[in-house]
Amino acid sequence: MREQLVQRLTDGFTATDPTRLTECGELVRGKVRDVYVSDDELFMVTTDRLSAFDVVLTSVPCKGAILNAIAVEAFRATEDLCPNHLIEVPHPNVMRVRRTTPLPVEIILRRYITGSLWRDLHSGKAAAYEIDFPEGLKRDQRFDEVICTPSTKADVGLHDEPISEREIVARGLVSKELLDEVISKAHALFRRGEELAAARGLILVDTKYEFGLTPEGELIVIDEIHTADSSRYWVAEEYQARFEAGESQRMLDKENIRQWLIGQGYQGEGEPPHIPDEVRLDLAQTYAELHDRLLGRPFEVPVGSPQESLYS
Ligand SMILES: Nc1ncnc2c1ncn2[C@@H]1O[C@H](COP(=O)(O)OP(=O)(O)OP(=O)(O)O)[C@@H](O)[C@H]1O
Ligand SMILES: [Mg+2]
Repeated sequence: MREQLVQRLTDGFTATDPTRLTECGELVRGKVRDVYVSDDELFMVTTDRLSAFDVVLTSVPCKGAILNAIAVEAFRATEDLCPNHLIEVPHPNVMRVRRTTPLPVEIILRRYITGSLWRDLHSGKAAAYEIDFPEGLKRDQRFDEVICTPSTKADVGLHDEPISEREIVARGLVSKELLDEVISKAHALFRRGEELAAARGLILVDTKYEFGLTPEGELIVIDEIHTADSSRYWVAEEYQARFEAGESQRMLDKENIRQWLIGQGYQGEGEPPHIPDEVRLDLAQTYAELHDRLLGRPFEVPVGSPQESLYS
């Protein structure tokens, strides 16, 4: 596996060529996805680009295909709870999806206190959520209830900001009625995500959802769900011992690279550090391990360039 991933270090899937996908619509480049927009659909290509702290830093071999596979599986496993945007998977890196008007907030649900919330709780930034967090929390402690820490969806170049449910409504971003529906859908999705993870020996720690409204006014879940980019996953059988010993959890997600970056003194401001190939490969293997566990089958590194198969 690692040898095959090494091959892909240099010919990674970092960007699509819009001149060869003209029939798919007009290109809008996100941090991770190249999205081709047409009247009522998006041709969403998940590339190997890695973003952390809202900055694109490098590429990670096969990350795009792995994320796409996990998201597709998760959409199919939850469509009875909440309709989603998926129409079809024409290529391992691509989802054809229904185009929506995205709501201007992201819904983040958390079962454990860790990552950015742990950091924000200590810097005082978490006050924006207007939540009474229990006293004396330890890092990585489980909450009795799943908590919701929304954020605004910032424009390009800006960071998403924490916001409370009350403030979302007060600022007129989403109506109270619609927000209640969104949050209740998110909780249903999260419960299913937790069950599916648990069946594979994993803990779904937290996750981010985006929702949109179709032209007919239907509320659907969009973007990606339950992936290693949008969620944290820990290895369940190691949780308790590590928690009691005050050690970091075994993480199968993007938090690995965030912590590596923080260790290098980088949190999204200033010049990013050089990311060595070993670090890129380790992250690729972590993403592949999550894929294999969640989907119950091994990720196969594609033979030949995934870009070329996209244009043929
Ligand atoms: N069905 C949909 N309708 C409309 N917009 C969508 C739909 N699904 C996803 N999107 C939007 O497409 C973009 C996907 O690109 P990408 O994930 O690269 O962007 P990003 O959010 O800027 O990056 P990152 O995920 O690193 O924060 C997002 O802005 C997302 O909100
Ligand atoms: Mg995104």
